[in-house]
Amino acid sequence: MSLTFRCPVCQSQLLQSAPPAKGVSCENNHQFDRAKQGYLNLLPGHKKKSKNPGDDKTMVQARTRFLDANFYRPVAEGLIDSFKSSIDTTVPLILDAGSGEGYYTDLIKKSLPEASIAGLDISKPAVIASSKRSRDIEWLVASVNDIPLMDNQLDAVISIFSRCDWQEFQRTLKTGGIVFVLAPAAEHLLSLRQAIYEEVHPYPVDKLLNDIPTAFNLIETRNIHGNMILDSSEQIMDLLAMTPHYWHVKPEQKKALERLDNLNCSFDMKLYVVKKISE
Ligand SMILES: C[S@@+](CC[C@H](N)C(=O)[O-])C[C@H]1O[C@@H](n2cnc3c(N)ncnc32)[C@H](O)[C@@H]1O
Ligand SMILES: [Zn+2]
Repeated sequence: MSLTFRCPVCQSQLLQSAPPAKGVSCENNHQFDRAKQGYLNLLPGHKKKSKNPGDDKTMVQARTRFLDANFYRPVAEGLIDSFKSSIDTTVPLILDAGSGEGYYTDLIKKSLPEASIAGLDISKPAVIASSKRSRDIEWLVASVNDIPLMDNQLDAVISIFSRCDWQEFQRTLKTGGIVFVLAPAAEHLLSLRQAIYEEVHPYPVDKLLNDIPTAFNLIETRNIHGNMILDSSEQIMDLLAMTPHYWHVKPEQKKALERLDNLNCSFDMKLYVVKKISE
């Protein structure tokens, strides 16, 4: 089985275009070319809310450097472990919704080589970076609010520190399919936040549970935490660029952070495993 794409213009099924074209097209002749890097851009210009939506190139490069140092490797391992114990097929169809520059998507594919996986992100620089990580994943520029996949086909949706559109998850998942949501827990990156702000509040935990529709059941939660020793200013600034604090930090706070050359910082995350139990 492979993933079935949906036209973002007319919602009918997309099929491979006749060769020599390498893209996909629908019965209404809406065509989407495959970029030379291999990804499909399924985000029509008129549906973009800004010219360059999502994370910019600087943030994507920072994320790649940070993740490639494997500080969050235990996070990927916890997620994959939970995945393997919850999904009962060895050939799952999976969507990583908000896949960023593809670090987790790539590790999931490597641990489940038979799986068909799409990684979707609204940021073109992120999807270009993802295309360099793996040629065995369908990389899509698209919005999680308009997933370019036909209905009722996915065994799993993965959402790591990204926005959830539960209506779209419900539409694209099979009944019995599972959403894995990874979100910050109360103490996530506490020392980074203390180094930036005068007053630091715990992250509100479990808030996302309020948004889950009744067609879903929470079947497992798991805390994933650990400690990291960042030993250069570059690593500290890369971590900052991966977080929403990058947008909020004041210039003087940023300068103070730049002066640090090491930081002992813990991550504190919570994984929610949520099953679609009805249509
Ligand atoms: C915090 S990053 C997480 C990326 C990746 N899951 C990871 O953990 O490395 C959030 C991602 O969501 C993307 N994003 C923001 N709005 C989006 C949308 N409406 N649809 C799809 N992706 C979106 C951003 O471009 C960014 O890559
Ligand atoms: Zn169409």
